Amino acid sequence: MLIAGNWKMNTNVAAATKLAADVVNRVGDQERVGVGVCPPSVSLLAVGSVLRGSSVRLGAQNMHHADHGAFTGEVAASMLRSVGCTYVILGHSERRQYFFETDEAVGAKVRQALSHNLVPIVCVGERLEERRGGSERSIVRGQLYGALEGATISVPDRLVVAYEPVWAIGTGETATPDQAQDMHAFIRELLASRFGPATAAGIQILYGGSMKAANARALLGQNDVDGGLIGGASLSGESFAAIVAAANDSQGA
Ligand code: 13P
Repeated sequence: MLIAGNWKMNTNVAAATKLAADVVNRVGDQERVGVGVCPPSVSLLAVGSVLRGSSVRLGAQNMHHADHGAFTGEVAASMLRSVGCTYVILGHSERRQYFFETDEAVGAKVRQALSHNLVPIVCVGERLEERRGGSERSIVRGQLYGALEGATISVPDRLVVAYEPVWAIGTGETATPDQAQDMHAFIRELLASRFGPATAAGIQILYGGSMKAANARALLGQNDVDGGLIGGASLSGESFAAIVAAANDSQGA
C-alpha cells in the first residue's frame, strides 16, 4: 500500500513545512503503509528536511525530460534527486489539460525519471464524456502505453501507476469500488502484457479522485487497489492520516 499526497499548487514554504511536520507526527513512525507527500517544487527542500528520519517519502509533481539546459521555469530529474525526491508524479490530468502534455511527452519524462532512479507515479484516467461513450479502457490503454513507451521495468517498485478518472478529481464524486477495481484489474493486465505477470503483480496501482477517509476503506479494500493519490484531503494532516489509517486496516484485513 502507498498513500501519496498531491498538494498541487497549494501551501507556501511555511505552510508546507507545517503540514509536513503534522504528517510526520501522525504517520511518520509506521512502515506498514508507504506514505509520500508531493509539495510544490519551491518547498521540496524544506519539506525534505522535515521528513528526514521519518518513513514519509518526498515526491515532486512534475519535471522536464531533459538533463539540463535552456528550459526556463523547468526542473530536471537530477535536481529532484538532489533535494531527496523518491517519487515524481507524471502525466497528471491537470498537466495534460492545462499544459497540453501529450502521451509522448509523458513517455519522455517517464524514461528520464527512471534513468535517474526516481519512481514515476504515472497518472492515467478518462474524462466524463469518454466514460459515457464507453471508451474509458481505450483511453487508459493509450495513456499507459504512451507513458511506458521505451521504458524498462524489471523491479516492480520502480514504477507506480495512478488511475485518476478526471470526472472524480476535485469534484467530490468518486469512482465506485467496483469501477475502480475493474479499471485497476485492466491496468494490471496491460502492465502484465508489457512487463510480464510477476512484475505487474507487484506494481502499485493507486486510485485518485476525491478519496477521503469516508470512502477510502471501500476503495482500498479492492484487490487491485494498492493505495491512493490524494488531492484535497492531503492538505490536512488529520484527514490524510485518516486515509493512511484506512490503508492500514485494509492491509490487515
Ligand atoms: P482530489 O483528491 O482533490 O480529487 O485530487 C485527486 C488528484 O488529482 C490527486 O492527484
